[in-house]
Order: sequence, then structure tokens, then C-alpha cells
Amino acid sequence: MRNSNILIVDHDTDTQAQLRGVLSQEGYTIDTAPDGRAALGLVTRQIPDLVMSDLNMPELDGLSLLGELRSLGHDMPIILMTACGSLKTAVDGIRAGAFDYISKPFSLDDVRLVVRRALQHTQLSREPRQPENPLHHSIRAENLVGSSPAVVSVYKSIARVAQTESTVLLEGESGTGKELIARAIHANSARSTAPFVTIDGGALTETLLESELFGHERGAFTGAVGAKKGLLEKAHLGTCFLDEVADLSPALQGKLLRVIQEREFRRVGSTATMTVDVRIIAASKKNLSSLVQAGRFREDLYYRLNVVTIQIPPLRERMEDIPVLTQYFINKYGGVKSTPVTTISPEAIDALTRYAWPGNVRELEHAVEQAVALAPHSLIYPEDLPHAVQTRPKPSSAQSRGWVTLAELERAHILQVLKHHQQDLGRSAEILGIHRKTLLRKLRQFGFADGPRTMYVHPDILSTLVPMDTTSMT
Ligand SMILES: Nc1ncnc2c1ncn2[C@@H]1O[C@H](COP(=O)(O)OP(=O)(O)OP(=O)(O)O)[C@@H](O)[C@H]1O
Ligand SMILES: [Mg+2]
Repeated sequence: MRNSNILIVDHDTDTQAQLRGVLSQEGYTIDTAPDGRAALGLVTRQIPDLVMSDLNMPELDGLSLLGELRSLGHDMPIILMTACGSLKTAVDGIRAGAFDYISKPFSLDDVRLVVRRALQHTQLSREPRQPENPLHHSIRAENLVGSSPAVVSVYKSIARVAQTESTVLLEGESGTGKELIARAIHANSARSTAPFVTIDGGALTETLLESELFGHERGAFTGAVGAKKGLLEKAHLGTCFLDEVADLSPALQGKLLRVIQEREFRRVGSTATMTVDVRIIAASKKNLSSLVQAGRFREDLYYRLNVVTIQIPPLRERMEDIPVLTQYFINKYGGVKSTPVTTISPEAIDALTRYAWPGNVRELEHAVEQAVALAPHSLIYPEDLPHAVQTRPKPSSAQSRGWVTLAELERAHILQVLKHHQQDLGRSAEILGIHRKTLLRKLRQFGFADGPRTMYVHPDILSTLVPMDTTSMT
């Protein structure tokens, strides 16, 4: 769909230029506006085929622009962009009818792809949008942190599946956040006011699990002194989270299949069939399809569970989330001490981003909790971190034989400039020759600024800075 007209709305001129470059090469006609207000002005003159809009803008942000365009009756696809992705923005955006949601920095291939898909979508189907459900406007997602592209794509999946009744399979290593994500799906779904019930396939023996799951009648087995409701019954109208499904015995796999197919089961010791209305979210640390191939998991059950699969990437594949996760855990654990721990030194962040995190976010959370408990200052230094994390060799210096990498140099230089100018962001950006927003984004990547208005580098960090000598290396 060459010749399509695309309106790019972003306050950051670098992003505008970058998008204009790649998209005009593809043969599209491009218009740009610095914010939502200006974009609405342009739309009265020419209606674009596609709008790409940043979320955070001074005059009329991306979501408000989306709302305004829809209320004016415009139904072109809208792609939202954000430098600081969160589950809330993904859910809000998709619920408000955005076509897609991408996070900066994006690859040019991603941009080409998403634009092509959006324009094709308009051509193929002008489906009526689902009416919004007014009951579910409050998004409960504060506890999911991270804004790497990998995590933003998980947020998008959560936002989409939350609006459906589909069975969901969450696959990810230990500690990647599967349970947190299952809860987020439930909390953002139409079932949010009904129970969320967890069934742990790995925790119980077969008989116990069966009676836990389906309940039992009085006298069903020794010790069954009264009748008991099973977890499935307790989850009625809500969500049933089947944790560690790979650990279910073959017999239970069969029974579960029946529940999923028929929404029917029998209490242990009963002949009466009961029906339940539950949404099923299953989780597994192991790759279920390879277990199916190995003959250790029922194929038919796998296909029932695998309606929508969300792969949760291990932490080592999204190291850029470490600074923000670390700060989140410092806030969570740091306040209770008599000298509150408020932040972390760049050297300690360095150590954290060099470690491989086999235990993923849970291991990071424990490491930060421990460091907070041990740190004698308001700042976490590398020596406060668990031993395994501290002693990781630094790959970059091995590769560069002691030379400072460009990234290290950039960070040190930015901090020097900020220090010298008393953290005046505008002035520092000017001296560095970059846009204020670019500076803010870089600081965020270093783990310093946690929101647009709270731009601080902790003074303790600045006071430990020494000028970097890049030439005395071997
Ligand atoms: N994106 C995230 N933001 C904040 N906290 C997170 C995130 N992901 C995981 N956590 C935290 O890490 C810990 C582990 O998460 P969770 O229990 O959901 O992992 P899991 O995948 O179910 O692990 P396991 O397979 O070992 O059961 C929890 O304390 C959770 O709050
Ligand atoms: Mg879990």
C-alpha cells in the first residue's frame, strides 16, 4: 500500500526523523506533528491512513489523541509508541482500540512490519470494534515491572488475552513471573471479581491432588470425614491457575482434559457430574511440546492448553530491565530500615547486568533484598551483593583488553556533565548536544530516572565519580 499517508506524532524530533526516513523509503507519504493537539489540527485537513503516536506528549498525549480521533469517527489504525512501556499502557491502548503498541528503541524492521500489517488490516477487514466493557476500566498491574521490547510484547499479549476466554499457556523458566502474569490476566479480565485459584501440579501426591482439585464426598477415602469442595468448584466463574502442569501424572492429565473439554468433573467418591465455568491458565517451566514428543505429556491435553501461548523470556535476554527492576525492589525492601536504602551505585548495577540470573527475576529480587538488608549506607555497592553476583568476570573488558567501551564512556561522560551542572537536565542535554528527552531516556536506561518528573541521579553516585581515563589501557 504505497502512497498511503502516515501521520507521525512525537515530541522527539530524532524519532520523527528516524520514522520519516524509514517509512518514506518504503514509499509512504509522511506528515509529522509534535503532539496530539497539533495532530488533530492536521487531521482536519487531511485524514491519514495510519497514525503512529508517542504516548507521552506535552499537549494531548497518545491515549487522548486516540480517544479524540475515535470520537470524531476516524477508524484508521493507530500504533502507539512508548519509551517506557508498562502493562497499564498496553492494556489501556489496546482496550481503547489501538492497532498495536511498540516500544522504543525499535528496530527499523519492526517498524516496517507493523506498519505494513496495520495498513493491510485496514484494507482486509473493517471489522466493527468490540464495545468496551465499562466494568473493567481499572487496571491492576502496578506490580509488573520492565519496559524492554521483550516484556512489552508480553504486556501486549496479556492485554489481548485478558479480553478473551481462551485457555492460556505460560511458558518460562523458573522465576520469570508466570504467576504474576497469570494474576494480571485474571485481574484485567471480565472475571476479575471472581476467585483466582491456584492448583500446583507439582506439590501434591496423586490422591491428594485429585481430591484437592475435584473435591470429595464424605467417606471417599480414609480420613474423608466430611464432603469438601475442590479447587475447581472454588474457582467457579473465576480463573483456575494450573501451575507446573508438566508435573501432573498421566491419570490426572486425562481427568483434566475432560474438565477442559466438557467443563465437567466428579468429586472423588461421587457418581454425580458437576459443571463449572472457569477460565484456565496453565504454566510450565518445561517446554511442553518437547515433553509431548518425548511421550511424557498427553498430546490432546497439550493442544487444549496451547490455545494461546505466552513465552516469558528469561531475564538474561532482557538485561535492560535490570535497572528498573532493581530500583523497584529497592523501593519495596529499602524503606523499612532505620537508614533507608534508596538506590544503587553504577558499579553495582554493572555487576548485576553481568550476571546470568539462572533464577531470573526471583533471584534478582532476593539478591536486592539481601543487599538492602546488609548495606550500611543508603546506597548499594557491589560488595553488598551476593558473592556469586560480585565475582562475575566482566566480558567487555576481556574482549577489549582493558579498554573502556563506548557505552561505559558514554555513561561516565553523561554523569560528569550532570554533576558539573547540578543536574540541570536542559543545560546538560544542550552541552551533550542531544535532546532533553534523549538524555532522559539514556538516564532511564542506566536505571536512574524512574519517571518523567523524578529525574535524579543520587548525589552519592555523583560524588564517587572519577574522570575516566580512556588512554592508559594496555
Ligand atoms: N516483571 C516483574 N516485575 C516485578 N516483579 C516480578 C516480575 N517478574 C517476576 N517478579 C517477581 O519475581 C518473583 C517470581 O515470580 P513468579 O512467582 O511469578 O515466577 P514463576 O515464573 O511463577 O516462577 P516458578 O516457575 O519458579 O514458579 C515474584 O516475587 C514476583 O513478584
Ligand atoms: Mg510459579
